[in-house]
Amino acid sequence: MTTTIPVEPVDLADAALVENPYPHYARLRGAGAPVRSSVWDCWFAATHAQCHAVFGDSRFSAVGQPMLRGLQAAVVSGARSYALPEPPPEPDASAHRAQGRRTTGRALSTGYVDGLWPGFAAACRELAADLAARPGPVDVVADYAIPLATRLLADLMAIADADLPAFRAWAESGYGPPADAADQRRIVRGIRELLARSAVGRLREPTQDFIGHLVANPGTLTGGGGVGEHLEFVLGTGLMISLVTHQGLVLSFGTLVDALARHPGQYARVRADRALVPGAVEEGLRYDPSTQALGRLARADVVIDGTPIPAGGLVLCLVGSANRDPAQWPDADTFDVGRDTRAAARHLTFGWGATSCLGAAMSRQAMSHMLAALVDAADAVTPSSGAVRFPEFMTRGYTALPVHLTPARSDG
Ligand code: HEM
Repeated sequence: MTTTIPVEPVDLADAALVENPYPHYARLRGAGAPVRSSVWDCWFAATHAQCHAVFGDSRFSAVGQPMLRGLQAAVVSGARSYALPEPPPEPDASAHRAQGRRTTGRALSTGYVDGLWPGFAAACRELAADLAARPGPVDVVADYAIPLATRLLADLMAIADADLPAFRAWAESGYGPPADAADQRRIVRGIRELLARSAVGRLREPTQDFIGHLVANPGTLTGGGGVGEHLEFVLGTGLMISLVTHQGLVLSFGTLVDALARHPGQYARVRADRALVPGAVEEGLRYDPSTQALGRLARADVVIDGTPIPAGGLVLCLVGSANRDPAQWPDADTFDVGRDTRAAARHLTFGWGATSCLGAAMSRQAMSHMLAALVDAADAVTPSSGAVRFPEFMTRGYTALPVHLTPARSDG
């Protein structure tokens, strides 16, 4: 079915989009082709096929992602329209990028990473049991997901106890009101010093952990830049993993628990059959993803589903819309923890293609432990008041999500 879209397809500044973008997406998908916004100076790709085509086409560049962040910042600051700035230069030659990606991917799939899970699972169980025993509502984000994500990523980076305050200040800096400029500089200086010390230490004395693996396997991102450049790569990877991925985990877990709290029958199914935990995690990632949009910049004239997109055009790949595409999933708007896990996993929440998420397996495992522990500890999870959403629709999730946990009376 093809729907006629009015001249302006979506008002990105509309607060209703933050609360519930899905009806807007259905309208955009109905257009049958990417549509342009002249107010926001971008195109919207809304179906799974359109997003997939953009992610898989090398004429689209991921420098669109930092450009989308610019658009996002403008919307948050109250702008009513946007003009795309000059695109930044391509960051590095693709062969070197691919090498850095391989190094990071391997560092995330070593025995060291496998060895993190027993301790993480125990920490999830202990915290969930403690929270379920508390009277009154608990904040699934502040009391559960944030401390667990910090623990996992600090263990991944082998952060020493003495360095935990600096690590935490950085990793958890994305949730509250923005720090003032001086505080922000202090936080960034703290984490950079910590990571640099950790990398240089491992140059002198090699270790088998995640940072040790990055240090031991030069990414030579821009080619022949020597030790200094390699350390920049280690630093950049460490900075990104301890902040952006923290947020990915926390926000994704929040939207999953929110969906379960709003669908008590689905929570009861998981509680009755723990084998449904991985499927529930996958369905949560599909149904209400923290990644609602990814930006791609056209480096040449490209036609997507009949719409010509000129070189220099920014495409917003609406992942949240692609994940509800009825052409991909029956009853795509239904949250169903029993959906075939492999089918649900066709979602685009981790991106797709050359820059897709390298931490997808780790995230799935972490969220499964977090959910399994919650389900063990609580017979039911019910919504409470006081939830606070991220203020902008492209990053979806909660910075506070109070719920009532009914302590488990049996093991379900
Ligand atoms: C549920 C949590 C997470 C979500 C939703 C998520 C999502 C994403 C997405 C959408 C991208 C691709 C961005 C693009 O193509 O423009 C990405 C990239 C990446 N993610 Fe994740 N992520 C999560 C957790 C993690 C974790 C835990 C790690 C590692 C510990 C990680 C490591 C990475 C890396 C290294 C990249 C960059 C890949 C590249 O540039 O080639 N992510 N993530």
